[in-house]
Amino acid sequence: MKSTTRVAITGIGSYVPERILTNAELEKMVDTTDEWIVTRSGIRERHIARPDQATSDLAAEAAKRAMASAKVTPQEIDLIIVATLSPDMPMPNTACFVQHLIGAKNATCIGMEAACSGFLFAMDMANQYLLTGRFKTALVIGAEKLSGVTDWQDRTTCVLFGDGAGAVVLQARTTGEGILSVVTGSDGSLAHLLNIPAGGSRTPTSVETIEKRLHFMKMEGKEVFKHAVRAMCEASRKAVEQAGLTLSDIACIVPHQANMRIVEAIRDRLGVGPEKVFINLDKYGNMSAASIPVALDEAIQQGRIKPGDNVVFVAFGGGLTWSSMVVRM
Ligand code: UT7
Repeated sequence: MKSTTRVAITGIGSYVPERILTNAELEKMVDTTDEWIVTRSGIRERHIARPDQATSDLAAEAAKRAMASAKVTPQEIDLIIVATLSPDMPMPNTACFVQHLIGAKNATCIGMEAACSGFLFAMDMANQYLLTGRFKTALVIGAEKLSGVTDWQDRTTCVLFGDGAGAVVLQARTTGEGILSVVTGSDGSLAHLLNIPAGGSRTPTSVETIEKRLHFMKMEGKEVFKHAVRAMCEASRKAVEQAGLTLSDIACIVPHQANMRIVEAIRDRLGVGPEKVFINLDKYGNMSAASIPVALDEAIQQGRIKPGDNVVFVAFGGGLTWSSMVVRM
């Protein structure tokens, strides 16, 4: 009897720029303190890309590492999806630049725009393509140069974000591992809570939008926080149930790394211990679409996630958008 076909993570890689920006440095840039940033968010430092590095450069580094770990060549990649809210340019999509940088000539390139949920939305899309057999080997990348869309004069946001990229290679397998369940959701009525107001067709860039700093990220943090906790808990519970599992079957939860207090609230509401939830936001801040794949890569390197483990990913971001996924590694 043929066993179930699932889409599995067969390789993973990540890259963060070398430059580290500490809270102490931020104290000299805006009216803030290390104490405020650590107590309110848990973030201690973040990585910042060089001026000559674009999102696709970070993505390509992560992609090369993921391909090496999966032992696949660039020619074997037939699908690239890059999730980002900080694309190289509005057009073409960032996956096209990555394709060129890594020499994946046979790939179809797609951009995914779902803010911090983008990586999981892209995994979900690739999952569907691979299950139908339309593509065989996908690179799914979450990559952000958020430093380019951050208002470095706005203390309510600039202390939170960082740059980085994470990538996975996905392939169909019949050996048990792979994506067991996916939950996604969106609420466009709350789009105003987290956005970049100018630079699109609604409000094209002008001298006025630049003077008003509308081309930078804006967030109503407190509101987003409330929705994040509720949606992430619900989505995780549903994903675990749909996988036919209970939380006791889960070895590790890898949440979107936005805020330590959000992660702690999720942990409490789900009733799981700290040993089951991976956190690295203290070192990287919120890297939006890149946060989950970078965290997954680190969790595997640290031995927190092993082959055969059931892992929950859960994300929340602008849109609003949210997603959770259970994957057997
Ligand atoms: O990744 C996508 C999803 N994003 C998130 O999940 C982020 C969700 N939100 C959050 O993580 C939190 O809401 C923040 C970390 C952004 C803010 O924490 P908070 O506990 O909600 O603080 P707050 O916005 O209510 O601000 C409290 C006070 C305010 O002063 P007043 O009005 O009480 O006098 C702020 O002006 O802290 C002030 N404040 C700061 N003070 C020092 C805001 N930013 C800073 C700062 N340094 N950097």
